[in-house]
Amino acid sequence: MKQLTFKLVALILFFLIGNSVVQAQLSKDNEKQLNELMSKMTLDEKIGQLNQYTGDYLATGPVVQDGEKVNQIMQGKVGSMLNIKGSADTRTYQEFALKSRLKIPLLFGLDVIHGYYTTFPIPLAEAASWDLEAIEKSARISATEAAAGGIHWTFAPMVDIARDPRWGRVLEGAGEDTWYATKVAFARVHGFQGKGLGTPNAIMACAKHFAAYGAAVGGRDYNSVDMSERMLRETYLPPFKACVDAGCATFMNSFNDLNGVPATGNAFLQRKILKGEWDFQGFVVSDWGSMGEMIAHGFASNGNDAAMKSMLAGSDMDMESRVFTNELKKLIEEGKVPMELLDDAVRRVLTKKFEMGLFDDPFRFCTPDVEKKELSNPAHRTAARDVAKKSIVLLKNEKQTLPINLESKEIKTIALIGPLAQSEYDMLGAWSISWPDSEIVSYEEGIRARLPKNIQLVIAKGCEINGISTAGFAEAIEVAKKADIVLLAIGESIDMSGEAKSRSNIHLPGVQEQLAIEITKLGKPTVAMISGGRPMIFNDIADQTPAILYTWWLGSEAGNAVAEVLFGDYNPSGKLPISFPRDEGQIPVYYNYFNTGRPLNGDDYEIYKSAYIDMSNKAKFPFGYGLSYTSFEYSNLQLSAPSLSQSGTITVSCSIKNIGNKAGEEVVQLYLRDRVGSVVRPMKELKGFQKVMLQVGESKTLTFEINSEKLSFYNIELNWVAEPGMFDVMLGSSSEDIRLRSEFELK
Ligand code: NOJ
Repeated sequence: MKQLTFKLVALILFFLIGNSVVQAQLSKDNEKQLNELMSKMTLDEKIGQLNQYTGDYLATGPVVQDGEKVNQIMQGKVGSMLNIKGSADTRTYQEFALKSRLKIPLLFGLDVIHGYYTTFPIPLAEAASWDLEAIEKSARISATEAAAGGIHWTFAPMVDIARDPRWGRVLEGAGEDTWYATKVAFARVHGFQGKGLGTPNAIMACAKHFAAYGAAVGGRDYNSVDMSERMLRETYLPPFKACVDAGCATFMNSFNDLNGVPATGNAFLQRKILKGEWDFQGFVVSDWGSMGEMIAHGFASNGNDAAMKSMLAGSDMDMESRVFTNELKKLIEEGKVPMELLDDAVRRVLTKKFEMGLFDDPFRFCTPDVEKKELSNPAHRTAARDVAKKSIVLLKNEKQTLPINLESKEIKTIALIGPLAQSEYDMLGAWSISWPDSEIVSYEEGIRARLPKNIQLVIAKGCEINGISTAGFAEAIEVAKKADIVLLAIGESIDMSGEAKSRSNIHLPGVQEQLAIEITKLGKPTVAMISGGRPMIFNDIADQTPAILYTWWLGSEAGNAVAEVLFGDYNPSGKLPISFPRDEGQIPVYYNYFNTGRPLNGDDYEIYKSAYIDMSNKAKFPFGYGLSYTSFEYSNLQLSAPSLSQSGTITVSCSIKNIGNKAGEEVVQLYLRDRVGSVVRPMKELKGFQKVMLQVGESKTLTFEINSEKLSFYNIELNWVAEPGMFDVMLGSSSEDIRLRSEFELK
């Protein structure tokens, strides 16, 4: 009786979600081959395709030791491996797979998050460049190198919206804004997948973590998420949809539960939305062990239950939890999982293997020679340096402390002080792939290489990154006293942001801020260069130190990129993709908040207004903020018409002029506000931007198109609508620095 009920539930589910079952979009030949292959496969071999193990070299999660992997590969019980890199090792494993009965090649996956051999800035830093071409190029190069190293699949882009900098994984995404994140997501998927999966230097992208992982309560990694469906659809899902639109081959689900249902066992997310509404044709891999973790969640009673719930909910491949391998056969035999669902998952995985060309050449084009050539391509370093300099954000520049004029006779000595002055490893940032021979340019090396002979560089560490000792302060102060300019290299170490690296205190670690203030007090031209994977809090430096560069983790070319900005070879153009709080107590602080019924008029506390008695509501540095060595004048905002219809467009134009004395780029940001809605709407929402280069005195006219899509939102019935009424249009240099305003009506 019990078995019958299970069968019935499984069947009903299958019919309900029938629209999510994929038919391969392959060439006729491949389709035929795929069908033939499927018809030959045993149940064990089918289950094998849905099983992914980690290699023994690298672990990016808790490892199950079974020492049996190679045997299982040779028996066709493994479909994919992660964490194996390099043409030699991937070849060895692929040869094991080719010894299996049906010779189905393995897929090799790796976290190529911001570079493979050449390390690019962390994704959050790249997002600060607002240069979609450079972002796409960084992914393209990473894919080219990874493919040459035998990798078929990256677990990127991470497209989780993140408004809580306590969460260590903010570094992996594009920040807090949904609209901007969709653009970055699209660029990254295109970058990784290049001209299509069948081309030799393309790797499959993987949109992760589906979904809402970035909203973990309290910024604590792996924590629960509880949010309205409207918030989910409007704020957290669009970047994932953009990945589907860009042709993203795979998705990864997430560790969190969403409104009580773990994402891995969430049919609403995976069956209804992803494979149903969005018609996603690729496959979904679980996150590391997340199927088995549904037991700890209290959602599955044991591995068998976890496997059943994962499969029914639309998870196709099990990363490292072994529940599919151990339990799926029984579940199929007992009718608790319909064979059609298993076949659908297998078909999705095999389809990608065909599309990747693995059945034609299981090694693709990858040989040690190709690998060597690609990994030593100097153009890759050039691109890494280019996007690194564009990612740097100038937060403050009093008395034109920057750029430093190396031709000035007054500069004889520059002091570089701080625990990150000579560090190489920390420059790479979390989620980088380590190589014993990789070249990383430290701040010291980059700066030294740029200095003329007559200027000497003196160095002092001052303190540890995270220690409490101030014993090194005296020496650092002595060194600084001898210098004409002081540079402070401070921030987080590589292991302070990233997965499982949530911090409840996001101030600069240790005594670094104290050191910076002691040095600042000497009154020399002083520049703080702050590295790290997240927004940090450093109010004393922000208020007292004359110049600040936020330098994130910039990758292999960090020192060279920083030197270009310090000495004016590059005029900084980065803008923050995420707000920087004044204090942890303000979190989450983000620019697109609701006004509330009791908004604060100015910045100061007023009783019975939505405010803190001890702090401003405003971020210390807001979304979209970043300075340049020059300044820009905005003028002449014009609308092509005072109103538009649901099918119409309005063109917004403005002039922007470089009124400073250095050529530079500005990121002009377009924000909109729907004044009255059937549900309340944010005070402003980014709906466009342009990064424009202007020579001294040059001016350009920029235009932005507005259509009803840009005015739409999910109403209370969850319909995507643009409601007639008045809208504000704002053009600004940041979300707080609005320079031009106007209004229009949607009829
Ligand atoms: C767990 C992480 O959440 C995910 O982002 C990553 O891709 C996998 N581990 C594999 O390393």
